Amino acid sequence: IKRIGVLTSGGDAPGMNAAIRAVVRAGLHHNVEVFGIRSGYKGLYQDEISLLERHSVSDVITRGGTFLGSARFPEFKEEAIRAQAVANLKKHAIDALVVIGGDGSYMGAMSLTELGFPCIGIPGTIDNDIAGTDFTIGFDTALNVAVEAIDRLRDTCSSHNRISVVEVMGRHCGDLTSSAAVAGGAEYVIVPEVAFDQDELIQQIHQGVAKGKKHAIVAICENMCDVNRLAYDIQAATGRDTRATTLGHIQRGGSPTAQDRIMASRMGARAMELLLEGYGGRCMGLQSNNIVHHDIIDCIKHLRRPFDEEMYQLSNTLF
Ligand code: F6P
Repeated sequence: IKRIGVLTSGGDAPGMNAAIRAVVRAGLHHNVEVFGIRSGYKGLYQDEISLLERHSVSDVITRGGTFLGSARFPEFKEEAIRAQAVANLKKHAIDALVVIGGDGSYMGAMSLTELGFPCIGIPGTIDNDIAGTDFTIGFDTALNVAVEAIDRLRDTCSSHNRISVVEVMGRHCGDLTSSAAVAGGAEYVIVPEVAFDQDELIQQIHQGVAKGKKHAIVAICENMCDVNRLAYDIQAATGRDTRATTLGHIQRGGSPTAQDRIMASRMGARAMELLLEGYGGRCMGLQSNNIVHHDIIDCIKHLRRPFDEEMYQLSNTLF
């Protein structure tokens, strides 16, 4: 292996830059040239490929987002598009690829691997919804943003005796919501992995208010209901002012936490080593604080990410 490519794909996540930097710097250490591909698989298809040098990744470790850019590119499912991507890689004499992203990005890496092109996936998404790893890059930063937001909401809720409904990202994974609920001391937590009964929730809040509870925070994962409607219904049932706040993309930005930077650095450096050891079709993980790797096809098709039930239960126990 003399030349490898690196790209970031799907929704960006804080810590992606640290992962790119680790791949580039580990490459320099092992005399491997690293090429950056702009805008994910789209740039791979459009041949937006250029050499990354030591200085190309100076000062990026502190920056959120991804300096390579990212894109969702569903067209990559098409055979002709993938064939063009492989032709572009061959044109630059690139022997292998590191893909940093979420499950959609892993699908692309899997299909390139099936075409005989070695790829290593690095889990980069705030959602923490990838199998084979305890944490994904970006999760910890997004969690800290969500907790800070909940702390701020608590201040104003407590001043006004209000109820606050906070919508947290995560797509279909409740990890970000339940972890934010525990760290932010939210009173109620609603995640997609557990059946949601709106009437029951409203009844519980109502009982809390009847017992003298002055304010409350409801942390709810996105894509579960219309949070403005939920806030309206809570207010109508309890007589207590209720406001909904959608944290949205604020959770995706900002300087990555030390934990995300360190995990990204470890995974990026190890991904380079794996390629040099002759591996392809693998994806990186952090399990019990060890850097591990799994078969990428297994990871997408067979391994399931376990629901963090303990965290969910904890938020209910500590209510
Ligand atoms: O996968 C990361 C994520 O931020 C999810 O939490 C969210 O559902 C989605 O991306 C939002 O996507 P977009 O940035 O395309 O609106």
